[in-house]
Amino acid sequence: MTKHALVEMGRRDMLRFAGAAVAAAIAPLPVLAQGAPPLKIGIIGAGREGSALGTLWAKAGHQVMFSSRHPEELKSLVEGIGLAAQAGTVEQAVAFGDVVAIIVPYPAMQQIGKDYGAAIASKVLVMDVSNPIAPRDGEDIVKWVAEQGGAGLATAKLLPGAKIVRAFNALGYTRLAADAHRPGDPVGIPIAGDDKTAIAVASSLIREIGFEPVLVGGLAMGRYLVPGTPFGREPTPAEIKQIAATLH
Ligand SMILES: NC(=O)c1ccc[n+]([C@@H]2O[C@H](COP(=O)([O-])OP(=O)(O)OC[C@H]3O[C@@H](n4cnc5c(N)ncnc54)[C@H](OP(=O)(O)O)[C@@H]3O)[C@@H](O)[C@H]2O)c1
Repeated sequence: MTKHALVEMGRRDMLRFAGAAVAAAIAPLPVLAQGAPPLKIGIIGAGREGSALGTLWAKAGHQVMFSSRHPEELKSLVEGIGLAAQAGTVEQAVAFGDVVAIIVPYPAMQQIGKDYGAAIASKVLVMDVSNPIAPRDGEDIVKWVAEQGGAGLATAKLLPGAKIVRAFNALGYTRLAADAHRPGDPVGIPIAGDDKTAIAVASSLIREIGFEPVLVGGLAMGRYLVPGTPFGREPTPAEIKQIAATLH
């Protein structure tokens, strides 16, 4: 996290980060390469994309709780990662995280909002990696999301008060480990959000695992952060800026 990002944080968020630093001093956690304290990240949806992303964050030095409605099924995943990873229920992961990443089929977002919306709204960042996909999720929800103005604004409706940043929505799970820290130009990750602190934290988390975040606009721009749009490849940061300029 840059000094600039920290200056943009409110007092409450600063306290939370200070708390994380104290926790890091108590528990012998690895110090991040860029000097930021490790965060606690709750992964809601430890399927293909969620387990790949959470693994990268755990390897970068964060504490990650992967969740499932059947947490016992995550035993081999967390054992393979080591001490930085643990498995829990969705409720436990929401309570655990300073940051929550939601990586579920889009209809599950409705249930998650109903069950954990209040707790999720208290987090410094909610990274929304989820997409509404008609063949998987049904036409009705895809239509409803479009009526809200796209996936960013729809998620904000389902998770009132949450500091949402959409990210990684079009980068397939098979590419995450391969593209992380790739030599030469990094793979750019288009992000969209409205909360400055959440954007700063998301940007830091994205850089730490070897990608370059590019803010393409507020949550309304989240409608373009889905597979099948011009962002849906492995663009460089410069390419993302060029594409974003044509979409406003
Ligand atoms: N796959 C990719 O390459 C990729 C890339 C970018 C974005 N995405 C997006 O990421 C999301 C997940 O995709 P995926 O391919 O990782 O799916 P997946 O492998 O099927 O995993 C989905 C996960 O969501 C969890 N889940 C489902 N319903 C839930 C509920 N009601 N409450 C809590 N957790 C629930 C499941 O957990 P349990 O069943 O264990 O409880 C499962 O671990 C989708 O929206 C997708 O569009 C995927």
